[in-house]
Amino acid sequence: MPKLGIIGGSGLYGVPGFLHLKEECVSTPFGEPSGPYLIAGIADDAGTQVVFLPRHGTKHSIPPHKVNYRANIWGMRELGVERILGINAVGGIDPELPPGSIVLPDQALDFTQGARPSTFHDGPDVVHIDFTDPYCPEIRAAILKASQAEGIPVTSGATYVCTNGPRLESRAEIEFFRRAGAHIVGMTGMPEAALARELELCYAAVSVITNFAAGVSAANKLTTTEVVETMAKSTASVMALLKKTFFLIPEQRGCPCKDALSGTRL
Ligand code: HPA
Repeated sequence: MPKLGIIGGSGLYGVPGFLHLKEECVSTPFGEPSGPYLIAGIADDAGTQVVFLPRHGTKHSIPPHKVNYRANIWGMRELGVERILGINAVGGIDPELPPGSIVLPDQALDFTQGARPSTFHDGPDVVHIDFTDPYCPEIRAAILKASQAEGIPVTSGATYVCTNGPRLESRAEIEFFRRAGAHIVGMTGMPEAALARELELCYAAVSVITNFAAGVSAANKLTTTEVVETMAKSTASVMALLKKTFFLIPEQRGCPCKDALSGTRL
């Protein structure tokens, strides 16, 4: 059975319903990951393993712009993970997507460029990975099948825009992102997805809309209380989706992610 990596976001600091087996600490050439990796099993099948890491730390002490994305992804690979699911809380820009919706993005806009270390290749090695489609098609397809099998509604196909944070966005910024084609906004999806690709790992995001983004609804103040409360309400569905997904991912990778580095070096 392949190992599946899960990176949890705001409001998700563990894998409820999974069997906790052990913790593993990993040191990387890029520094320390957000904490120990939790190795867990799926309760009714002892042979299955997931490797879980809360990207903000177990006590949510690491803000989005300070997460060591490189170390987190590197550590996953060290532990034998080939596929990663990144869970994140997002604001809904599209008014048709209310809080509580689970969204499977297929495109990304990165507004953190230059503000965070975003590559494993800072020279003298120069690498330009293809990022036409930022998320693994095979994992996305498995999540969609899982959503149908479990009757958990998932909106497939959305553009995720990543801001640097930690502040939330202004009304004008959200309107700008909406006109640029974004449907959801978060602070952690990038460079996580790109770094996974640089290590030839599969990566897909599962985004939970925890609030309407700035100016989208009549509410004039966004709060992290709302974010965490909505995430908590969605956790059971997200976990059920992940469990089912696990069994629907093919044993051997048939997607382009595994050869992401071929033809990318200068
Ligand atoms: N903006 C950015 N990141 C977020 C939001 C938001 O409205 N909600 C949850 N994460």
